[in-house]
Amino acid sequence: MEPRRYFADDAPADREEERLRALEALCDGATTRRLEALGVGPGWRCLEVAAGRGSIARWLAERAGPSGRVVATDLNTRFLGGSDLPDNIEVRKHDILADGFEPRAYDLVHARALLVHMPDPERTVARLAASVRPGGRLLLEEADFSMFRASDARYPGAEQFDRSVRRVLDAIGSAGIWNGALGHRIPLFTERLGFDQTGHDCVPFMARGGDDPGGRFWSLTFPLSGPQLVAAGAVEHTDLDHVQACLADPEFRFIAGVLFGSWARRP
Ligand SMILES: C[S@@+](CC[C@H](N)C(=O)[O-])C[C@H]1O[C@@H](n2cnc3c(N)ncnc32)[C@H](O)[C@@H]1O
Repeated sequence: MEPRRYFADDAPADREEERLRALEALCDGATTRRLEALGVGPGWRCLEVAAGRGSIARWLAERAGPSGRVVATDLNTRFLGGSDLPDNIEVRKHDILADGFEPRAYDLVHARALLVHMPDPERTVARLAASVRPGGRLLLEEADFSMFRASDARYPGAEQFDRSVRRVLDAIGSAGIWNGALGHRIPLFTERLGFDQTGHDCVPFMARGGDDPGGRFWSLTFPLSGPQLVAAGAVEHTDLDHVQACLADPEFRFIAGVLFGSWARRP
């Protein structure tokens, strides 16, 4: 299958960093609760794949302590450096579509919001799982935006928001830009690995427009593919404009979907 480019590769650094910061604000609470439940602690060797801005890599480094180690990888490591980077984090530029990692080497392998960008997500899961050591854990987290909609039906324009956001998300999926309906499948991918102690849960993204992380994340995300979708005739300008207007309004409440988490232990 043709490798595809990451859709935000050409985004200006300041906007992309703000987008990733908003994503961290939305997800980090759920992620760290899941990592705590898996028992991440001193001495753990952790692999954080597609680390983005690196908030979880830093959290893992703190937990793993000086006797542990975190390898934080990404296709684009522009946000992962910094003089304040803890000594126990190693940053690696790495394309998960091209290469795997050291086999059976890590106590924890974690990836969040990566598989939705993969042309063959189950193949990527196998690649991630290959680097979990016996007794080690895999944690995958992916969103599912199937229920993206306004929370308050009395909000003026709520119905139009629901219709327009659905058109935009469907068009993004059909164009192969990213898959907004993947999250619910990751428990299956994890179960098929033949690991034990499997489990999953999901956490809703309840959000509002304006400066809320949900409003910021989505109002920075849709314009990345909007012009391409309008040019292809897949969505109307009016759909994008209406969605963006709602996302800019602090009074607008919406559910963006849910963040699935799925975990397992290599026997
Ligand atoms: C939506 S961001 C999520 C970042 C981070 N995991 C988080 O949840 O905060 C997706 C990340 O996947 C990375 N990415 C996309 N394609 C990749 C690939 N083929 N190999 C490695 N990283 C990739 C992007 O550079 C980006 O940092």
